[in-house]
Amino acid sequence: MRYQGREVDVEGRVRLVMESALTARDRVGVQDFVLLENYNSEAAFIENLRRRFRENLIYTYIGSVLVSVNPYKELEIYSKQQMERYRGVSFYEISPHIYAVSDNTYRAMRTERKDQCILISGESGAGKTEASKKILLYYAVTCPTNHHLVTLGDRLLQSNPVLEAFGNAKTLRNDNSSRFGKYMDIQFDFKGAPIGGHILNYLLEKSRVVHQNHGERNFHIFYQLLDGGEDDLLNSLNLERNPQSYSYLVKGNCPRVSSINDKNSWKVVMKALDVIGFTPEEVQKLLNIIASVLHLGNTLFGEGEEGETYITTETQLSNIAKLLGVDGLALKEALTHKKLTAKGEEMISPLSFEQAVSARDALAKAVYGRTFSWLVEKINQSLAVKEELYHSSKGSSVIGLLDIYGFEVLQCNSFEQFCINYCNEKLQQLFIELTLRSEQEEYETEGLAWEPVQYFDNKIICDLIEEKHKGIISILDEECLRPGETCDISFLEKLEDTVGGHPHFVTHKLANGKARRVMSREEFRLLHYAGEVNYNVNGFLDKNNDLLSRNLKEVVCQSDNQILSYCFRREEAIDQKRPGMAAYQFKNSLMKLMEILMSKEPSYVRCIKPNDAKQPGRFDEVLVRHQVKYLGLMENLRVRRAGFAYRRRFEAFLQRYKPLCPETWPNWHGKLVDGVSALVSHLGYKAEEFKLGRSKIFIRFPKTLFTTEDALEAKKPEIAVVLQKSWRGYREWANYQRIRHAVIVIQSAWRGMKARRRAKRRRQAAELIRRLIKGFIYRHEDYCPENQYFLDHVRYSFLKKLSKNLPTSVLDKSWLTPPPSLVEASEHLQTLHMRNMVINYCRRVQPEWKKQMMQKVVASEIFKDQKDNYPLSVGRLFLDSRLEREQISLKVLQTLGSEKVQYGISVIKYDRRGFKPRARQLLLMNSFAVLVDRTKIKQRIDYAILRGISVSSLMDGMVVLHVPCEDNKQKGDAVIHCSHVIELVTKLSMLAGKTSYVNVSPGSIRVAVARNKEGIIDFIRGSELKVAKGKRGHLVVIAPRIAAT
Ligand SMILES: Nc1ncnc2c1ncn2[C@@H]1O[C@H](COP(=O)(O)OP(=O)(O)O)[C@@H](O)[C@H]1O
Ligand SMILES: [Mg+2]
Repeated sequence: MRYQGREVDVEGRVRLVMESALTARDRVGVQDFVLLENYNSEAAFIENLRRRFRENLIYTYIGSVLVSVNPYKELEIYSKQQMERYRGVSFYEISPHIYAVSDNTYRAMRTERKDQCILISGESGAGKTEASKKILLYYAVTCPTNHHLVTLGDRLLQSNPVLEAFGNAKTLRNDNSSRFGKYMDIQFDFKGAPIGGHILNYLLEKSRVVHQNHGERNFHIFYQLLDGGEDDLLNSLNLERNPQSYSYLVKGNCPRVSSINDKNSWKVVMKALDVIGFTPEEVQKLLNIIASVLHLGNTLFGEGEEGETYITTETQLSNIAKLLGVDGLALKEALTHKKLTAKGEEMISPLSFEQAVSARDALAKAVYGRTFSWLVEKINQSLAVKEELYHSSKGSSVIGLLDIYGFEVLQCNSFEQFCINYCNEKLQQLFIELTLRSEQEEYETEGLAWEPVQYFDNKIICDLIEEKHKGIISILDEECLRPGETCDISFLEKLEDTVGGHPHFVTHKLANGKARRVMSREEFRLLHYAGEVNYNVNGFLDKNNDLLSRNLKEVVCQSDNQILSYCFRREEAIDQKRPGMAAYQFKNSLMKLMEILMSKEPSYVRCIKPNDAKQPGRFDEVLVRHQVKYLGLMENLRVRRAGFAYRRRFEAFLQRYKPLCPETWPNWHGKLVDGVSALVSHLGYKAEEFKLGRSKIFIRFPKTLFTTEDALEAKKPEIAVVLQKSWRGYREWANYQRIRHAVIVIQSAWRGMKARRRAKRRRQAAELIRRLIKGFIYRHEDYCPENQYFLDHVRYSFLKKLSKNLPTSVLDKSWLTPPPSLVEASEHLQTLHMRNMVINYCRRVQPEWKKQMMQKVVASEIFKDQKDNYPLSVGRLFLDSRLEREQISLKVLQTLGSEKVQYGISVIKYDRRGFKPRARQLLLMNSFAVLVDRTKIKQRIDYAILRGISVSSLMDGMVVLHVPCEDNKQKGDAVIHCSHVIELVTKLSMLAGKTSYVNVSPGSIRVAVARNKEGIIDFIRGSELKVAKGKRGHLVVIAPRIAAT
């Protein structure tokens, strides 16, 4: 789900937004001091801090400034999840946090493409360095990484332990106090990935190398080396594993601190050096220098009888010479003598005991101080934007991190405090300038009238310190350079002379009675913006001079330790001109820093330490009040509250409070400013309570806002219901959309498939048609690729059609007309089919029928196309007999005995003589036939003697059975007429086995009447059948013509 354009895990983020700390104000004060009703009351301010501190809410805003109180315990608010929580979230939506400042700065850099800086200030031990580390870690974790430079984040982070080892020390106020100021630039490419870094260091507290106050330590690295370094290493450096053996480490009488594990830190530092890219040789040289400083501290002097000074610890000296890579004798001389140039001549004069000691300390400080600068430079080389990334650094922006000493007021304040407090004055000046400027700019862009703000402008103090010729630094420099007897007191007198009248400057002499009592004669007092500080002038000149005698410089220049030869240039030793004084250099570097910061958009983190005991849960009100004052937080608040307590962009304001007005709930669709107007008029804001700018609403009193906030609180249950409703609605809607989408997907796939199928079918059809047309054109050619398909198709479809239209009966002679290419095959098929049908037919035939058929076949053989009767008989079945058994006389049957009558028929027999017709029965046996006159067999004709059977070709029933006349038993040929002549003749000829004896005579038939006597039967066509005697004794048979069918 998205909320205000961001991906949010619904429950988590919405809850967070709801739980904006505004809501929680009753429980834990206000999360933004701007919302304090009584913004002029320091007590209210501190009370708010205290209440939140008690609840472990260590962060509070003053507008966009973050106030952080050191909890002195680990809080569960720096996890990766917390980082994610703050990523991309608007400043006010979520409880104050260092991550919110980091993220806001980062986003401002990305969106506005303007360089940013985060200024972290506060007393020593207030948590500045921790804050800067948290910011760095936040960027290392949350920013995208440039794949060229995955290790840059590591190196950025690892630069911290190294710098801390060499630049931090245990002080009374902080076990890990940074003894130098640090400004770090992180460069991001246009995609927002860190691609490089750069560190500027300010004013390392070098005096710590040679001296520590009670309860404090030297820089960590000395103790780390002695505790963590391997035996071999310590041996090679001629060191003992005991800090008590080194006079530079025993001044504070505090070799061990419970919160510090030097052994572990040593490992961490060595690893970090490796990650950053220090070579083992470089590390070795670095440790040589560290060890030589310890040996220097143990170098002791004796005073000779003539007042000359000599070195009593020769072994130490040779150790130092070896470690520093310098000539031992030259070093010895340089430590005990000074070189003077008088009237162009060089002279060497011995040093006093005190002078020798301070020369030794000066050497230690110079060597350590410059080595530290070398270290920073080396780290910078490692963090520098690599060449291959130069192109992507074009559109890049920078976030600067300033972790610099806060205002410092000690029991006895010296040159260092003077510089530190001067630095804070400058930062305050910058802060006022930038805050007021941005405030004024905001009013302008929003089109509101600027109302002048009452605040203290500390320019006057800055001028007092830094003005050319007239400022304290100039006077100090002058005093250092002035020939003749100069001392710290003469400097103080000079100050009284020059700036004595300045309202922010007081000395014992100038002070009134009350102030005089708390000031010593060696002090001057500055009235800083944050409060009064007394500075003791003792050591000012020396510290400002920061002198290393020329002959010592010459010795170190000759060193074959590359670090030293890099740090101490030969030109410097030769150069007669004095280098700038410490304060002067500091002033210059501060000016540069101011320039850098002015060019950037600043964010502020103000750190406060709650107690001096470094204890969790203790809130020392006096101490805190002191810091609130020194940090100028009330001033801060006043500037911020000068006009309006609260301002918010229209959309944010509307978004938060729209449920309070029916017109704007749930959504306002008009112009934002109208929506806000409608909202505030519904809420009853009075005209003096608010102003509408171009993009923001300005609310003058916190009370107004709180009333609104309370109304919102009361409304929340309702909103929750609405949210729930819309969330559920959204869920259902999303579900519906999912289903709908799925349906559409299925539908489209199905339709697509259908369309594809159709197209395929069409394509195939077109192809088919094409092939058919082509085939048709080529149809008369031989079988070839062009007509192949066509012909196949024609054949196929003919055969297919044929298969459905085959004749089903043997008699059916129809046959489909084949295509030309299939004529021959068709004929074969027809024959085959016919044969097949015949075979089948034959298989199906019954014996009865077979007999019938055989008879018919015989009949056909005999009569077909011979006799007119024949066609008529084809369609008629031959019967087994034309006589019923009863019709045949029993007597006859008895006579015939075992002979079985095969066929019987009534016939008319014509006598041989006169052709008289007589009705008879003709019975056919197996081997003979008989003519029966009722009960009497009249004639028996053995088939064996049957000579022939004659019939006419006409349509008559005449049959002549020719028997030989020679046989007496026989009575000559039998002339018979019957109505089933074809049947009779067929059966007879078959029974007799004399089918070939049948004679179909087209004309007349001769009949043997008696031996050698013939009768003739003439056949004539006439209208109807008639048998009669004709001329010449012929028997004339008139046969009807065949009906013309
Ligand atoms: N946010 C924090 N959470 C827990 N402890 C902190 C926090 N800030 C500071 N401290 C504690 O306070 C000590 C001093 O903080 P540091 O940042 O070194 O102070 P400064 O740099 O201002 O002198 C740290 O060593 C740490 O123990
Ligand atoms: Mg610090």
